[in-house]
Amino acid sequence: MATTLMLRKSLESLAATDDDGPHGLKRSLSALSIIAMGVGAIIGAGIFVLTGTAAASYAGPGIVLSFVLAGVACAFVGLCYAELAALIPVSGSSYTYTYATLGEFCAWVIGWDLVLEYAMGAATVSVGWSGYAVSLLRDVGIYLPPQLTNATGTVVKLADGGEATGIFNLPAALIVLALTFMLARGTRESARVNNIMVGVKLIVVISFVAIGAFYVDTSHWRPFVPENRGAFGEFGWSGVLRGAAVVFYAYIGFDAVSTAAQEAIKPQRDMPIGILGSLVVCTLLYVAVSAVLTGIVPFAELNVPDPIAKAVDMIGLGWFASLIKIGAIAGLTTVMLVLLYGQTRIFYTMAKDGLLPPVFSRIHPRFGTPFISQILIGSLVALTAGVLPVSILGEMVSIGTLFAFILVCAAVLYLRRSEAKAHRPFRTPGAPLVPILGILFCLTLMAGLPLDTWLRLLVWMAIGFAIYFAYGRRHSTVQREAA
Ligand code: ALA
Repeated sequence: MATTLMLRKSLESLAATDDDGPHGLKRSLSALSIIAMGVGAIIGAGIFVLTGTAAASYAGPGIVLSFVLAGVACAFVGLCYAELAALIPVSGSSYTYTYATLGEFCAWVIGWDLVLEYAMGAATVSVGWSGYAVSLLRDVGIYLPPQLTNATGTVVKLADGGEATGIFNLPAALIVLALTFMLARGTRESARVNNIMVGVKLIVVISFVAIGAFYVDTSHWRPFVPENRGAFGEFGWSGVLRGAAVVFYAYIGFDAVSTAAQEAIKPQRDMPIGILGSLVVCTLLYVAVSAVLTGIVPFAELNVPDPIAKAVDMIGLGWFASLIKIGAIAGLTTVMLVLLYGQTRIFYTMAKDGLLPPVFSRIHPRFGTPFISQILIGSLVALTAGVLPVSILGEMVSIGTLFAFILVCAAVLYLRRSEAKAHRPFRTPGAPLVPILGILFCLTLMAGLPLDTWLRLLVWMAIGFAIYFAYGRRHSTVQREAA
């Protein structure tokens, strides 16, 4: 039993999959395009949404340090992704890397875990999108009832001092359904659209920092790390750690960069530049944005789904506020598109391997997309987005992704021994130290997450185990071939 659970796909068979694939090795991406792609996939709900809740609940202005900590952890993991992306340049990302190293069972665990990163990630971003859309509509005099713009059971304070309880976050669910429909019909984000969106996002973020800096009241930064309130993670240094675990979400997306390894002109040079370059750009922007944000708004007031809009509202520049909101909405839309698209790609690979029902690998004859899978996943994401609050969603996404990252670092260590002679277009420098540090940093960030989030991860994994033993194991192609 134990041995069949560890059946692996060989590097040769993975290379063969790549040869058959529709994406031949067209090496057309320069380092700059890869950085643009990374920045495009990275900047989203993390900075536009979660910064506020993380500062208000855990770290205060110390959220700036949380961003530095999370950025360093991502740099170690990013180096490992670069090595594997160049060594195994096929679809499926960390699911595929794990199939080649730790075997089928662990690959299933990662594939199932990636649902947290991609599907739940899309749900989180849609809640942020809803916050910004509601705020923009308010600017033009359209008021949506708070019951229909907040997660089920969330109590919100109204401007007149009263309270309302959320029933369903309708805008969040609707945007997911709209994007799902677009993706299912074959609409794809082209590189040009992506570059334009990246431009819009960058202009918005940089102008927030440049203009907002003039309105910073440095007394809001004192104390920079507010005193701990008695429990682990509630401010103090443990709060900075917990804040890092939450805003780690803001960096997710550099792993999408690694999937471009096969299209990089010089992967050996461009992958590290692309991954580390986009991480450096995003870390600097995140640090600047969070410093300005906590300098404008007292951190205790930041527990809102649209913190940057709140800061801009407080400054009192109406035109600028609307610009920020439009930029945030555009930026969040592209991240959702990538995540919803990525989720179906991963399920597609898993269904091809027999671990999920064939419906997930069925391609629509005319649209050329996994139509049914996209609709199924989109509907579930829309439902989740409608009922769950952003804090729970964001933390689930962070823990799920950190877990996947640990396995990617472990895969680098494992393959360095088992496939020592394989040609590696890019080698993680300083191995085994860098992958080990990556694992330790991710574990530290995971430790910073609340117990509830860990329990939810365990429940999620238990459901995954049940599906694997009831379905995946019996239908697995690799198992059948081995038998
Ligand atoms: N990093 C992406 C975001 O913050 C997922 O939205």
